[in-house]
Amino acid sequence: MLNRRHFLSLSSAAALAGATAFPTLARAGRERLRLGLIGTGMRGQVLLKELLRRDDVEVVALCDIEPIMLGRALAMVDKHKKARPQTYGVSDAGGDPFAYRKLLEQKGLDGVIIATPWELHASMAIDAMNAKVPVGCEVVAGVTLQDHWDVLRTQQRSGTPYMLLENVCYRRDVMAVLQMVRAGLFGELVHLQGGYQHDLRAVKFNNGDPAKPYGSGVEFGAKGWSEARWRTQHSLTRNGELYPSHGIGPCAMAVNIHRGNRFTHINSFASKARGLQDYVGRKMGAKEHPNAKLGFKLGDVVTTTLACENGETILLQHDTSLPRPYSLGFRVQGTDGIWMDVNHSIHIEGRSKPHQWEDFQAYQDRYDHPLWKKYAAAAEGAGHGGMDFFVVHAFVEALKANAPMPIDIYDAVAWSAITPLSEQSIAEGFKTLAFPDFTEGLWKTRKPIFALDDRY
Ligand SMILES: NC(=O)c1ccc[n+]([C@@H]2O[C@H](COP(=O)([O-])OP(=O)(O)OC[C@H]3O[C@@H](n4cnc5c(N)ncnc54)[C@H](O)[C@@H]3O)[C@@H](O)[C@H]2O)c1
Repeated sequence: MLNRRHFLSLSSAAALAGATAFPTLARAGRERLRLGLIGTGMRGQVLLKELLRRDDVEVVALCDIEPIMLGRALAMVDKHKKARPQTYGVSDAGGDPFAYRKLLEQKGLDGVIIATPWELHASMAIDAMNAKVPVGCEVVAGVTLQDHWDVLRTQQRSGTPYMLLENVCYRRDVMAVLQMVRAGLFGELVHLQGGYQHDLRAVKFNNGDPAKPYGSGVEFGAKGWSEARWRTQHSLTRNGELYPSHGIGPCAMAVNIHRGNRFTHINSFASKARGLQDYVGRKMGAKEHPNAKLGFKLGDVVTTTLACENGETILLQHDTSLPRPYSLGFRVQGTDGIWMDVNHSIHIEGRSKPHQWEDFQAYQDRYDHPLWKKYAAAAEGAGHGGMDFFVVHAFVEALKANAPMPIDIYDAVAWSAITPLSEQSIAEGFKTLAFPDFTEGLWKTRKPIFALDDRY
């Protein structure tokens, strides 16, 4: 068995070589991991549930600055009859925003999951990688473009594994479509679409009551609870594609970004911003409330286009401030056919009736990904229709096997850097910008590893 130092230097060499095919690096590793979790809020608790369900993970450290959230996480540990982890972040003196650094010093930690507000991800991940603690980071990787370069450089310098925990890549239909893409059913891919189209108005505002995080009021910031406490501020001061990875992740995997392809250009357009103000003033009946008079900067619908080296275009839409049912709006289109998730349908030339949609179910059954076939029962009851099981599983299994992360540092920084680039594009009059090549040329020779078999 490899020792930890050897493992880290191998991973480092792998990261620098860039072209590491996943199976060749996979080797006997550890059977069991000791993991920590920074941020035990709403998302942290979903991830914690997945960790607690596993026999190969011991949750040995939890950190949050909010006693109620930390208390809820500990109650979950007790409910699963697991040993109580070391806790950090809350003391009689109040919350300590830097207590996570003490967690990172805890002996024998095999990895840490970060599920805190966006603006903390980059610095926490950098500190963890510098402490040689492998990172599973919730979306996003950073806020500014510089954050993304800093996260990347730290990963390269330290050689510490880093995975972006982008769960939508593991959605069952998304994975079936990836199988179909790989089998050539769509012919040569030409255009893809995705997005984050989710009415978050009731998430962005509440009355600060921990028992009612959704839709209970019109407060945000210090008077809000959970995401209203931090996420809404981004809608107030930023205008761009604020949450790109759920949409871009599956599209990027389908066209092999960083594995023979790359993003070359980006531009974004933003509509006017009306939804949040209208929600507070008219829908919640709080016309005189100061939050009804704020000028939210985030356009209600932000449309981003990316061009790829191999000629595909990818369109993303961010739409979180208007009434609408949830939909990520996926579309995969090639010379032989098209899939759209919104109507659960597909058209494959030569198989489908001309000019008609076919129901997707028969294709779902036939091309169901081996990972899903193998673990569907284990994923039963996991968050987001089961995909949260798979994203945690991938991180844990890759760490155990000392294998490269299936959603790696280059994916993380490029998918997430769409945000600052789209902000820049909008601020500069919807200008088309060159997309930075975070791989510095390695994209030409790297090979796909994501979900090639039923292991990760
Ligand atoms: N992949 C998904 O499907 C999905 C779903 C929801 C949220 N998320 C992501 O998860 C992250 C967390 O979102 P959430 O909904 O749990 O928000 P949340 O506000 O409910 O939880 C964040 C937690 O971080 C804690 N925190 C803040 N500063 C801290 C610090 N310095 N040290 C330790 N803890 C600190 C807060 O007290 C809070 O409990 C975000 O990045 C969000 O985008 C992902």
